[in-house]
Amino acid sequence: MPDKTIHRLTILRSAEPLPEVLARHGFPLDLRCGGKGTCGRCLIKLLNGRWECDGQELPVPIQAKACQVRLLSDSGEIAIPEISLQQRNGKMSSDWAFGSLPECAEPVIAIDLGTTTIAAVKIHQGRILKRASCYNAQNRFGDNIIARISHAEGSAESLVELQRAAVASINELLAELEAENVSRIAIAGNTVMSTILHGIDPSPLGKIPFIPPLRVFPVRKASELGLKAEAPLYTVPAISAYIGGDLTAGLAELRLAPGEMLVDIGTNCEIIFHAPQGLVCAAAAAGPAFEGAGIHCGMRAVDGAIEHYFGKDKFSVIGDTDPKGICGSGMLDFLAVERQAGHLNEFGRLQPQRETVALAPEVFLHERDIAQLLKAKAAVASGILALEEHCQSQAGKIFLAGGFAQYLNLNNAIAIGMLPAGREYCIAGNTSLAGAAHLACQPDFTATLEKYIESPQEIHLNSLPAFEDHFIDNLMLS
Ligand code: FES
Repeated sequence: MPDKTIHRLTILRSAEPLPEVLARHGFPLDLRCGGKGTCGRCLIKLLNGRWECDGQELPVPIQAKACQVRLLSDSGEIAIPEISLQQRNGKMSSDWAFGSLPECAEPVIAIDLGTTTIAAVKIHQGRILKRASCYNAQNRFGDNIIARISHAEGSAESLVELQRAAVASINELLAELEAENVSRIAIAGNTVMSTILHGIDPSPLGKIPFIPPLRVFPVRKASELGLKAEAPLYTVPAISAYIGGDLTAGLAELRLAPGEMLVDIGTNCEIIFHAPQGLVCAAAAAGPAFEGAGIHCGMRAVDGAIEHYFGKDKFSVIGDTDPKGICGSGMLDFLAVERQAGHLNEFGRLQPQRETVALAPEVFLHERDIAQLLKAKAAVASGILALEEHCQSQAGKIFLAGGFAQYLNLNNAIAIGMLPAGREYCIAGNTSLAGAAHLACQPDFTATLEKYIESPQEIHLNSLPAFEDHFIDNLMLS
């Protein structure tokens, strides 16, 4: 990953892993794989000192994964490229596009606890008074729910570490929103996030038959979980291991009519469809490509990311800065624009034949990156199409929830076949936060939410032969 901004610092030998030492010094690294050495996001340069990796002393200077090296000498100097640090100033969604807030006489707080980001709002008398958002400090244990589950499985202390990380991030937001005087807090998140927040071992969520330890979480005093507030904390209940409270919240807020579908595109693409036979839901593993992981110059939607791509040397960048990489919405545009221009064939191969294409002076895409993007878009498309086929019914209207959906170019998403054509689309925004806001204002909304978690029938997409067929078809660009 090219990057011109470099931080040089000297560190002293310590028993702590290097990423933790750097985090203490104010340089938290992007530890997407949770320090397993597989993502390559934590690259630093070892400039001097004696270092080892896998029991072998390394020659210096050398580029190395910070999560895999250990300092042998008393001190050592390193250089950290900005791009290896946890990215801040990202686009985080705390808006939703429908419904009005119920009246409530006292101030309350609603929180969307995401795997990557956390968004919160303070509400009083039907109005949003303040918004706040931050990254989930659990990111340092891996950027996806599977990495979090496997970290929690390590030991009781690992679960406590994860729980405290989420609590620390939420406390930042509570401080910003001045939570001392609020009368209630409500939170919605995926099942793994809610389970960990309540201090419960999430490991059953990662193993067949994927049974959540709890779907309905008790109302707790927020301070019992370590949060800096005395108000009661309500948690939106989960439908299943992979269809969490964030989707329950969206479902209850949107009150899907027959023929309507809710799709939340993320690392996991969750779908709820109001089919003729009732509500059905499914989750498709789209992978983290659209979040920038596994892509040479991929990054999240933060300052320096190419957000939209219109053709060679024509793009828009987030923030007042030169392009440093490309985020999901930009990559999706790239596929559509270059396919239309004839620079990508239907298999996603570059035309004329070559391995990489430069998008900006230091930003490129490799054919292997394009293959990852095609897999991600195929997972979303095949999830929707296979579920429809299973129900023998096509959705007329599709609500798109989540941050990625808010920034993508809908026409391009349809052009590359990620979203099926011929449907009405509605960008719904942060439906998870909307549901949490409703619950915070009206705690008796709990009864409605608990009713909703009983209705959807969960379909395991891998058990549908049509899923694989659609997946293979959608690996192509039309
Ligand atoms: S390779 Fe170091 S965190 Fe992934």
